[in-house]
Amino acid sequence: MNLRILVLLLVFSSCSHMNGGGSKALHPDWSKAQATGDKFVVSTQSERASQAGKLMIEQGGNIIDAFAATSFVLAVEEPYATGIGGGGFLLFRHAATGKVVAYDFREQAPAKAGDKLFLKADGSVDAERSKTGAHAAGVPGLVAGILEIHNLYGRLSREKVIKPAIELAESGFKVSSGFAYTLKESKDRLSKYRGSRDLFFKNGEVLKEGDLFQQKDLAETLRTISKKGRDGFYKGKIAWATVMYLHKNDGLHTISDFVRYRPKKRDPIKGTYNGYTVYGMPPPSSGGILVQQILNTLEGARLGNGMPFDVDNVHKTTIAMQTAFADRGKYFGDADFIDFPQAKLLSEDWAAEHRKLLDSKRALSADEISTAKGFPKEPDHTVHFSMADQEGNVLASTQTINGWYGNAMVVPGTGILMNNEMDDFSAAPGASNLFGAYGSAANKVEGRKRPLSSMSPTLIFKNGEPRYALGSPNGTRIISCVALTTLNLVEYGMSLKNAIAAPRYHHQWRPDELWVEPYFPTKTKDELAALGYKIQEKTWGCKVQGVSWSPGKLSAVADPRGSASALGL
Ligand code: GLY
Repeated sequence: MNLRILVLLLVFSSCSHMNGGGSKALHPDWSKAQATGDKFVVSTQSERASQAGKLMIEQGGNIIDAFAATSFVLAVEEPYATGIGGGGFLLFRHAATGKVVAYDFREQAPAKAGDKLFLKADGSVDAERSKTGAHAAGVPGLVAGILEIHNLYGRLSREKVIKPAIELAESGFKVSSGFAYTLKESKDRLSKYRGSRDLFFKNGEVLKEGDLFQQKDLAETLRTISKKGRDGFYKGKIAWATVMYLHKNDGLHTISDFVRYRPKKRDPIKGTYNGYTVYGMPPPSSGGILVQQILNTLEGARLGNGMPFDVDNVHKTTIAMQTAFADRGKYFGDADFIDFPQAKLLSEDWAAEHRKLLDSKRALSADEISTAKGFPKEPDHTVHFSMADQEGNVLASTQTINGWYGNAMVVPGTGILMNNEMDDFSAAPGASNLFGAYGSAANKVEGRKRPLSSMSPTLIFKNGEPRYALGSPNGTRIISCVALTTLNLVEYGMSLKNAIAAPRYHHQWRPDELWVEPYFPTKTKDELAALGYKIQEKTWGCKVQGVSWSPGKLSAVADPRGSASALGL
């Protein structure tokens, strides 16, 4: 064993047991968090969702049938994170064509929305309006996206792939402690709307851990979608009920917004690092480009000694994060609406400019990186899953309704909980959101525009073959979590399991703070503080789900920080 690998293993074993250097313990439970398979692997944070995916393969379906079934089950099981009132992204390597395709089924602003939507009469930002209530909701994309992708590539019938979700909504399930916590935290918002009270409350109180959670209306809506396809959601009774309810609550949505909604097939972001090819999600996500910008800046910098928690490497990686996030604030928005300098941001010249800052012997302040004020936003309540099959079909999908319980409105009689994705727009240049991030004019509200996202489904290839699929929930932190996991794989040579378990850190330029997980090595933290970093210890909830593929060998790893479920067949 060469010295570099030996040292890496020693460092990692201290981190993974989380008592190295005095840091706190993670004690990962790997019993459900890793799996191998000959035919198929899946990693999610939900046993039911992973089982639904696996069931599709057992029934003779393919990976896209599994994608659809898993998505719908998550939409039923995690109303605090995702749902048919939300949207998402898929990055898919289609083995038959060898192509990687990106699907954008992100929510879209109603046509009548404009850049004053979240401003009060005096011009100040009305922060609550973009988070709760009808104005906060974009036109949902999840149903259209899943069904279009399933139509294109699926093998089983639509009815078969929606069935597990209908059964789960109909029979219900016990509220978990995590679910109960989010309900308690969201009680006031949810209590404002009749449909939400009917669904989430019992005897005037939010449901508690162990209570049965049934969604009969949602089961009926899913049955309609199962019979009629996208028209069951975007036209007819359900669409009208949704539009009328939003309208009654002061929303700008029209039936035409629903009828006209379409998912978009996009060209993925493609970059390289250390002989690997990395594919990411293009705008309206910032994720693919930011992850690649961080990699581009670091590739020429040679993270010399190969030690992921060496203070110099963490310092350089942090500056690469700061510079990328500063660009996000200035330039990013829906590229269908703005003049977006994608080629410049991904160019070697641009990376070389950023790289000059890496020589700094101390922490750099936000103003030293950029004096721009803009920076987008985002919450942390999202789902991500990854899948692979034996033919080399590989996918990564991230889906969300944005904040916990989206805009808090369940449309009465439908079970549909609407998103609050409009909060991912910039209410005004320089305004910050719930998560302390700011927005620029590139991401201002416009009719039919899609709000900027951080969701970063990622595929990594070597020698033209897929190797890994990964991604995570958790707002802006997704980008650093995915970038670090990618570096752990392609720079530090870790296994997928170690790459996912390794302690994480996050810097998003503004606020001017370096966040580290509680089990980040204490020695490195002290050294970073000595360089001038303002360090915040936080548990911020990224949960990276990854799969790895090589001919005849499929593995899945789900982040042991959560309720991991990796399954193989
Ligand atoms: N709403 C979180 C994101 O799209 O990044």
